[in-house]
Amino acid sequence: MDTLVKAQNLSIKYPNSDEPVIIDTNFEIKDNEIFVLVGPSGCGKSTILQALAGFIQADGVLTMNGQTIDTPDWQRGVVFQNSSLYPWFTVKDNVGFGLKARQFSKADIEKRVAYLLDLIGLSDQGNTKTFELSGGMRQRVAIARVLANKSPLLLMDEPFGALDAFTRAKMQKLILDIWRQEKTSIFMITHDLNEAIRCGNRIAIMNNHDKKIIEIKDNPFQNIDVEELDDFELERKIDKYRKSILELINQ
Ligand SMILES: Nc1ncnc2c1ncn2[C@@H]1O[C@H](COP(=O)(O)OP(=O)(O)OP(=O)(O)O)[C@@H](O)[C@H]1O
Ligand SMILES: [Mg+2]
Repeated sequence: MDTLVKAQNLSIKYPNSDEPVIIDTNFEIKDNEIFVLVGPSGCGKSTILQALAGFIQADGVLTMNGQTIDTPDWQRGVVFQNSSLYPWFTVKDNVGFGLKARQFSKADIEKRVAYLLDLIGLSDQGNTKTFELSGGMRQRVAIARVLANKSPLLLMDEPFGALDAFTRAKMQKLILDIWRQEKTSIFMITHDLNEAIRCGNRIAIMNNHDKKIIEIKDNPFQNIDVEELDDFELERKIDKYRKSILELINQ
């Protein structure tokens, strides 16, 4: 697989503090992979995402397709835990907003929006105002709005963190479906190891004190919903794998 994003000796310091939050970290995001980042609260996960988005500056090498990332760009779409939509706009207008701003034709926007609403299962809610939607529906709209731009990289910071377990499981499946259909790359932060194991091609791990990604593991269990499993042998293997991640996080 080709490299989409390269981070080499990446260090990040907020302007208002003396201590860097991230020191000398290295990782690559490959084309068409889901790269999941896990680690304890406060270790610097969101900080790395913000640098990837171009919201904050970093030292060292940080490139996407060979070009330095130093500013926000439609090529990198961001979804947060509580993504803000335009509450008085309809679902359709929220999803098509970026395309309109980029002056796509009305027909092209309609076509793309209809396709995306179908993808996220909200075709019947196209004309609903987004303040009327449930949290899960709202996150689906936020994801579709980012997908509308055909961004080659989606950056997701605990995108399902505010959702109940049942909705969360459905969203994980949706993300995998979207990833397969849209052939996009995804950088996702989660504190839920089962979510990381279900979604990630690779899982990057941080701990509380090293201020960097300490290990990146291939994940042989992508696509498996651990909570629905009734295969004991497989469950045991996943349990062992999960524990090996936890040990690194707590190191
Ligand atoms: N805007 C900021 N200015 C200064 N320091 C910040 C800023 N944002 C975050 N930090 C600090 O950087 C460190 C890493 O924060 P970050 O939000 O990246 O952690 P996180 O791993 O995403 O945690 P969580 O899992 O709780 O979201 C923390 O010590 C935090 O206080
Ligand atoms: Mg965070």
